[in-house]
Amino acid sequence: MFLPIVAYGDPILKQVAEDISSDHQNLKELIENMYETMYASHGVGLAAPQIGQSIRIFVIDCSPFEEDEPELSGFKKTFINAEILEEEGEEWLFKEGCLSIPEVREEVSRQPKITIRYFDEDFVEHTETYEGLAARVIQHEYDHIEGILFTDYLSPLRKRMINRRLGDIRDGKITPEYRMRFYKSKKRKR
Ligand code: NI
Repeated sequence: MFLPIVAYGDPILKQVAEDISSDHQNLKELIENMYETMYASHGVGLAAPQIGQSIRIFVIDCSPFEEDEPELSGFKKTFINAEILEEEGEEWLFKEGCLSIPEVREEVSRQPKITIRYFDEDFVEHTETYEGLAARVIQHEYDHIEGILFTDYLSPLRKRMINRRLGDIRDGKITPEYRMRFYKSKKRKR
């Protein structure tokens, strides 16, 4: 089932999400729906706050990057209650986008190597190290469960350049290619 994607401007995207327990209700179904939603909207990652749930789950599939990094073909993973333990190396720039902020792409600087502890969909604990684009996608999705958006990293100048677009997204004055949930329109309906 496709779950509408929460648009920029909804306060849930700025909240630090909560850990879940292994008996979390309908967890398998939720994860399945998150993958379905991510694929249908052509994203490489999706975090639970983006479908309106402030819990620490995100899913990624880096396959679209296989041209740049062939080992990313079929690189698909679910991260539950994740915690980034370490970030290393010299920061590098990469143009990021976000399903909650359609048609905005901006360069963001991040460290290239991370070590992350998380539980998979069977609640088995892992501690793994990732580099390059895999690390980049994980860092972006991890930020979502920490209440951080990539636009938070932009310089005041870059932020000013996209301010009108951000306002339009917040106010629901856009026509996205997938179903979204806008904060203002949601309030108006009540
Ligand atoms: Ni995002």
